[in-house]
Amino acid sequence: MHYQNSLEFAQKMDEEDPLATIREEFSIPKNKNGDSEIYLCGNSLGLQPKLAAEYVKRELEQWANLGVKGHFSGDYPWMPYHEFLSEGFAELVGAKSSEVVAMNTLTANLHFMMVSFYRPSKKRHKILIEEHAFPSDHYAVESQIKFHGFDPDESMLMVKPRQNEQTIRTDDLLKLIEEQGDSIALVMLPGVQYYTGQVFDMKAIHRTGA
Ligand SMILES: Cc1ncc(COP(=O)(O)O)c(C=O)c1O
Repeated sequence: MHYQNSLEFAQKMDEEDPLATIREEFSIPKNKNGDSEIYLCGNSLGLQPKLAAEYVKRELEQWANLGVKGHFSGDYPWMPYHEFLSEGFAELVGAKSSEVVAMNTLTANLHFMMVSFYRPSKKRHKILIEEHAFPSDHYAVESQIKFHGFDPDESMLMVKPRQNEQTIRTDDLLKLIEEQGDSIALVMLPGVQYYTGQVFDMKAIHRTGA
């Protein structure tokens, strides 16, 4: 592919895109001129799939028709709903279906995860997180540190891009882990940074023993 910065090139790529028709499956908000917005927000709230209303209606009907029995009967009983989602989620994240479960909000899940994995001691109490993490991730880390009686100013170790750079250099990150390793109790970095789109080199980070 010879990339060209032109409208014609973009239109040609759109025409050849095998996934292009999937666009029709979503409701796209309109701008004030009545044109479809260019929608790039995939993290906070993506576009509504047109099928969503139908699926919600199906559950409301199940509730109306079965009441409490909807937990255990009907085509998709609510009690084991997470089991219906495991296969798809496993494929999405490259895991086994026995290793994934759909539950809660992201922030609640982070707290659960930190309850298990963040066991600070006087010597090893820091959580390594990227600067400008998603605000609720940042606050969750801060509150876990406080919950254990530590001070976020001392226990939150923030890795950031160099001046005038947008993304964090892997070498800088590895160096920080190397230097501060003995005081780090938890490394909490996203696979993909929600704002910059940076993909972190998890294999390299893992190799540090962090
Ligand atoms: C990167 C990121 N982290 C955390 C959150 C917070 O998720 P929740 O509202 O499920 O706790 C969001 C939500 O948009 C997010 O995009």
